[in-house]
Amino acid sequence: MPLVSGKLLLEKAHEFGFAIGAFNFNNMEFLKAILEAAEEEEAPVFVQTTESAIRYAGIEFLSGMVHAVKDKYSIPFALHLDHGKHVETVLLAIRHGYTSVMIDCSDRPYEENLEVTRKVVSLCAPLGIAVEAELGRLGGVEDNVESLEEVLVDPDQAKEFALRTGIDALAPAIGTAHGAFKFKGEAKLDFERLRKVKELTNLPLVLHGASGVYYEYVNEINTYGGDIKGAKGVPDDDVRKAVELGINKVNTDTDLRLAFIATLRRLMSEERKNVDPRKFLKPAMEEVKEMVKRRIRLYGSSGRASLF
Ligand code: G3H
Ligand code: 13P
Ligand code: ZN
Repeated sequence: MPLVSGKLLLEKAHEFGFAIGAFNFNNMEFLKAILEAAEEEEAPVFVQTTESAIRYAGIEFLSGMVHAVKDKYSIPFALHLDHGKHVETVLLAIRHGYTSVMIDCSDRPYEENLEVTRKVVSLCAPLGIAVEAELGRLGGVEDNVESLEEVLVDPDQAKEFALRTGIDALAPAIGTAHGAFKFKGEAKLDFERLRKVKELTNLPLVLHGASGVYYEYVNEINTYGGDIKGAKGVPDDDVRKAVELGINKVNTDTDLRLAFIATLRRLMSEERKNVDPRKFLKPAMEEVKEMVKRRIRLYGSSGRASLF
C-alpha cells in the first residue's frame, strides 16, 4: 500500500490518536532519507513540497521521483503540497499526482481564506485528494505590533471555518513559528486553545513550525563556520503534549535541514582534499534519515503502518 490519499492517513491518525510526520524535501537525498526512515520505522508518512521547492527543483522532478519509487516501499505515504498559496499551484499538484494539498490563505482576510479554501475543496474532494487549510498566523508576535490574541487561531472561528469549507485537516496557529528561531524567550504554545479547537472541530489537526532545533546540531553548525546562535525550537515534551491534545500531522523541515547542514559543514572542514560530492552527501543523507526516525518516534507513529 504505497502512495495513498492524505485523507486515509489523517483519518486513521485522528481515530487512533497519534500523529504522522510530514517531512519537506527539495531533492533526492531528502526524499530517499524520509522514505527509508519511514519504511524502517514501519510508519505512515507525508512527503511534502512547498511552492519554493517546486520553483527550486521543478514539479516534474519532485513528483517524478516519488512516482518512480512508490512501489519500492510497503508503508502507506502521501505526496502533499505544503503551503500552497494559489489555486493554480493546487491544480498543478493535482495534475502531477499529489494525493494531498494545503491551501494556505491564512495571510488573507478571513472571508477570502474561506472562499479560496471552499473552491479548493470543491476541486479536490471528487478526486479523493485531502485538503488542509490554516487559520491564524504562524511566526508569533513582532515586538508588540500585534497581540497574540490577534495572530492565534480563534476556536469558534475554526468551528465555523471547518463546517463551511469541508476541509479534511486544519492547521491552527497556537504559537509556533517556521525556521530555526522560533522563540525569543521560553517556548510557549497555547495548549488550551488547541484543546478547544479539537473539541469544537473534531477534525484532524496539523502542527506547523514544530522542529526541535536540537542543541547538538546548532552547536555543530556554529563550530564549523556557521552562525545560528540563539536558534530555538519546540521542546519534545511540548510536541508530545500537542499530539495528546489532538495533533495528527506534524510538519518538520528545519530539523532535517540542520542535520544535513551540520554534517556537510563538519565533513567539508575535515575532508579538505575530497572533491567527490557523494562523499559529503551520503553521510548527510544518513543523518537526515536518523533525524526522521527520531521525529517519527516522537510523534507516536512507529509501527502504525500495520493499521492500514
Ligand atoms: O513552510 C515550510 C518550510 O520550512 C519553508 O519551506 O523554504 O521550501 O519555502 P521553503
Ligand atoms: P519547521 O520549520 O519547524 O520545521 O516547520 C516546518 C513546517 O511547518 C513546514 O510546513
Ligand atoms: Zn508550515
